[in-house]
Parts: sequence; C-alpha cells; structure tokens
Amino acid sequence: MSNNLLKGKKGIIFGALNDMSIAWKVAERAHEEGAEFVLTNAPIAMRMGEINKLAESCGNALVIPADATDMDDLSNLFDKATEHLGGKIDFILHSIGMSPNVRKGKHYTETNYDFYHKTLDISAMSLHRVLKTAYEKDAVNDWGSVVALSYIAAQRVFPDYNDMADAKSLLESITRSFGYHYGIRNKVRINTISQSPTMTTAGSGVKGFDEFVAYAEDMSPLGNAGSIECANYVVSMFSDLTKYVTMQNLFHDGGYSFTGVSEKVIEKFKQ
Ligand code: NAI
Repeated sequence: MSNNLLKGKKGIIFGALNDMSIAWKVAERAHEEGAEFVLTNAPIAMRMGEINKLAESCGNALVIPADATDMDDLSNLFDKATEHLGGKIDFILHSIGMSPNVRKGKHYTETNYDFYHKTLDISAMSLHRVLKTAYEKDAVNDWGSVVALSYIAAQRVFPDYNDMADAKSLLESITRSFGYHYGIRNKVRINTISQSPTMTTAGSGVKGFDEFVAYAEDMSPLGNAGSIECANYVVSMFSDLTKYVTMQNLFHDGGYSFTGVSEKVIEKFKQ
C-alpha cells in the first residue's frame, strides 16, 4: 500500500537489527511511501549482515555504521548521509535501546552504575547526541520530523523494565527540550511514540515479557499495536500531514495507557 506520503523526502533510520525490529518495518514502509534514506546501526550490530538484506530491498539504501554514543561516528554519519542523499534530510528515526543491567539481570535496587550510565547514554542521551549533530551541521530541512520510540514505563512503574524506565523518561524529556529549540530555529518537530510491548530482540530481553504482552493485550480495548502499525504511525509523523505536532509523547498502544482496568482482566479474579 502506497500513498506516496514520503515522496521526495530523505532521512536516516537508526536501529534495524533484524526483521523483527520496529526500525526494519519503518524502513520498509518508508521505502514503499517513496522515501530515500540511509540505514545505520552500531558496528557490532552489523556482524550478522542482516541489515544488508534490508538495504537491498529498500532500493539499495546506503548503510553507514555508527555507535549512537560516539560523536565522531555521528558526525561521519551525517556528513556521509547528506552527501549521499544530495543535501539536507527531512526525517530521522531513533529506534535505539539497550540496558546492560537488564541484560545481566541486575535488579533495579542493586543497579550497577557503570551499566546505568550506559543505559542512559545508549537509550536516551543518544537522542540528544543525534539532534546536536544534526543541529550543528544544519542537516535537517525546515519542517523536518524526528521520531524516537518510547514506552509507558516512562510514566508508570513496570518493575522488570528496570533502568530502561529512567532512560525512557529522559528520552521523552529530551524530546520536549530539544523540540523547543529546534522548533524555534528550523520548525523541526521532535516526538516520541510510546509503543505497545512488541516481540523484538530488545523487547524479549525484559524478564517475563510474554506474560507482559498478554496482560497488555487484555488491558487494551483495541489489543496491542503491532510493529507494522507502529511503522505506519511513524510514516504519518514523517509526512506533512502532521506538521504541527511536536514535543509530544504519542501513545500507540490500543488504548492501554488510558484504561484503568478491563473486563477481561477483572474476569481472571472472579472466584
Ligand atoms: P531491536 O533490538 O530490534 O532494536 C534496538 C536497536 O538498538 C538495535 O538495532 C541495536 O543494534 C540498537 N543499538 C543498541 N545500542 C546501540 C548503539 N550504541 N548505537 C546505535 N544503535 C544501538 O528492538 P526494538 O524493539 O525494535 O527497539 C527499538 C526501540 O523501540 C527501542 O528504543 C525500544 O526501547 C523501543 N520500544 C520497544 C518496545 C518493545 O516492546 N519491543 C516497546 C516500546 C518501545
């Protein structure tokens, strides 16, 4: 399905690891909608070579490795991407998350602070780094659109989400703060999409994830939003149809965030 919503638009997509990744679906949908883009991920994430398959299916998109916590990598990425795409870009997808504390099974109350730093840098500060690089290089066209992916643990406690909850709060705060400054200077808009739990490599790293997905499914009037639906939402945010939306955290969760309790969940407690 294509409505040419992104025809003539150029961008950078961070975070396509494999075909489960939300960024992977965004790349496929953005390509269908006529966008041209560069794909990027951490050098270590490219070892399996999966991203090359995606690049091929997206009109031989250029792939540029960049660790999103490394300013030199980001500078190189923006220079090469704008050169390759023939000028300024119109959209950026930040689809990056990783917590060494989650990976190593460290309980939130026993956090390892070196790991904690890494969680915040990779999953949140990286958005600031990307935006600062783009801002300094004046690499984004006026009315450009930046989307980062968040989760409702930024607002409410989900115990096993661990320090990623803190990272998501920071990510949403950076979205507002940078959104203000970039909006004033270039009318660039910056938003987060707060997505339903989704079966991906990052998602399934969270303890008890399957139960978590099932609970959210039963709590959401529309059911959980899938990754393809998320990609569609991202495409709409990159398009000119959403020009005046900025500095927002947009829930894409089938109504989960505003449901107190559902009949399906209550049913499970009936004696
Ligand atoms: P994923 O594992 O496919 O994507 C995470 C990406 O982050 C990977 O491509 C990984 O290589 C990249 N990454 C890690 N460290 C990096 C670094 N230093 N530099 C550059 N890239 C780095 O998983 P998914 O689920 O597609 O995650 C994408 C985003 O969606 C993340 O921000 C995640 O927190 C968010 N999200 C995911 C949900 C889920 O349930 N899967 C729910 C809500 C938000």
